[in-house]
Amino acid sequence: MRVDYSPESLGAGAFYRLLTSVVVPRPIAWVSTLAPDGETANLAPHSFFTVACTDPPVVQYTVVGRKDSLRNVEDTGEFVVNLAPEPLLAEINATATEFPRDQGEFDAVGIEREPSLRVRPPRVAASPVALECTLHSTLRLGNSTVVFGRVVHAAVREDVLVDGRPDIGRLRPLARLGGNEWSTVGEVHELARVPYRGRV
Ligand SMILES: Cc1cc2nc3c(=O)[nH]c(=O)nc-3n(C[C@H](O)[C@H](O)[C@H](O)COP(=O)(O)O)c2cc1C
Repeated sequence: MRVDYSPESLGAGAFYRLLTSVVVPRPIAWVSTLAPDGETANLAPHSFFTVACTDPPVVQYTVVGRKDSLRNVEDTGEFVVNLAPEPLLAEINATATEFPRDQGEFDAVGIEREPSLRVRPPRVAASPVALECTLHSTLRLGNSTVVFGRVVHAAVREDVLVDGRPDIGRLRPLARLGGNEWSTVGEVHELARVPYRGRV
């Protein structure tokens, strides 16, 4: 037996809660942007986030409604995706508070920043990975906007590398589940892909 739901009968809010409970776990892009004044540094978590293209490298995140993380990118054409690590859970959550546009979350929450190499928005100093992006395009879909960013530089902290590769046990990324749930990486399995050997 299954329970059936349709967006029409459930309504947008309830269907959104259903979707975010079943499209799980979602990685979290901790997105930093700069307001057009060039001073106010904005920071907010976005779990509607993934890789959009590998060559050229493009990542995407979705903003529901009109938020600073969208307006700033539209106005300045740049953003940074900082990996959201487990030890910073409280700080990441605090940056999801909807502060007014002239109040940057870096200052409001007390997040240490460091300069980026290729773009103007700062990186989160305590995050092990920063993907510096220039705006590729945006796509309006209903009440949301998908932001595509070309990754022009990746900065990875040396101490999370094992044999030259970012190590999951050292990155400790957080993920978003349904409602107010968060999760951490569980058991990690390694399994090689099986090549096609032709019909038998
Ligand atoms: C873990 C987490 C994930 C979130 N993911 C998204 C998302 O994908 N899209 C979105 O629009 N808001 C998302 N939010 C809410 C925004 O972070 C929140 O509205 C924030 O205040 C937006 O900041 P801004 O106005 O500075 O852009 C998320 C919140 C949390 C705590």
